[in-house]
Amino acid sequence: MRKNIVAGNWKMNKTLQEGVALAAELKDVLAGKTPNCDVVIGTPFIHLATVANQVEGSVIKVAAQNCANKESGAYTGEVSAAMVKSTGATYVILGHSERREYYGETSAILNDKVALALSNGLTPIYCCGEALDVRNANTQNEFVKNQLEETIFNLSAEDFQKLVIAYEPIWAIGTGVTASTEQAQEMLAFIRSIIADKFGKEIAENTSILYGGSCNAKNASELFAQPDIDGGLIGGASLKAADFVAIIDAF
Ligand code: PGA
Repeated sequence: MRKNIVAGNWKMNKTLQEGVALAAELKDVLAGKTPNCDVVIGTPFIHLATVANQVEGSVIKVAAQNCANKESGAYTGEVSAAMVKSTGATYVILGHSERREYYGETSAILNDKVALALSNGLTPIYCCGEALDVRNANTQNEFVKNQLEETIFNLSAEDFQKLVIAYEPIWAIGTGVTASTEQAQEMLAFIRSIIADKFGKEIAENTSILYGGSCNAKNASELFAQPDIDGGLIGGASLKAADFVAIIDAF
């Protein structure tokens, strides 16, 4: 059975003190609850060790938002998958469209990042999704298929089963425009169908696929009620405990 997951992506927000306060608030609010989903918070690197320690024993798991495409050595400013793992984080968001667009992350770079994340025991939340011009040309399925074929579809079936996929149409990220429930369900069903073609139906059924892009407390229930939507990758609405918990409660 695949897992439902609500994962926050704080992006480049919150000082260390603010992030610790947000994690503490989340931990408090979730203390008496048994969510019907796994709960993950994707913090900036500097928060990881403190926040992972702080949420230990709670339902909250911690994700990095990136890791290096190299194992170790003279790569000034980079943070390796092994370093992320050593903080207590268990997930890493990889291939976010902001990283692809602003930091030149290609499929080749992402293949190295995914491999290093997996070999260090981290669960990648692997992002894919098309820009508005692709959607307007109605070629989003081919585009996303290609993104997956160039990267995670090259993994062995064993490794593929260790990751989570997040579909995030770029035109819906941080814009307040959510993909309609139908558009999101249609794409996630398509992704599941191509996973089945590549790795077989059982693996496809067991892969958690999340939707991301202006997902919030208002639209989460409708999105999560769809058969192929196994949760969300949440940016803006993960920065306030009450909003994030309302999304968790949508399951
Ligand atoms: P958003 O961001 O929820 O603010 O649209 C989602 C994401 O980029 O992960």
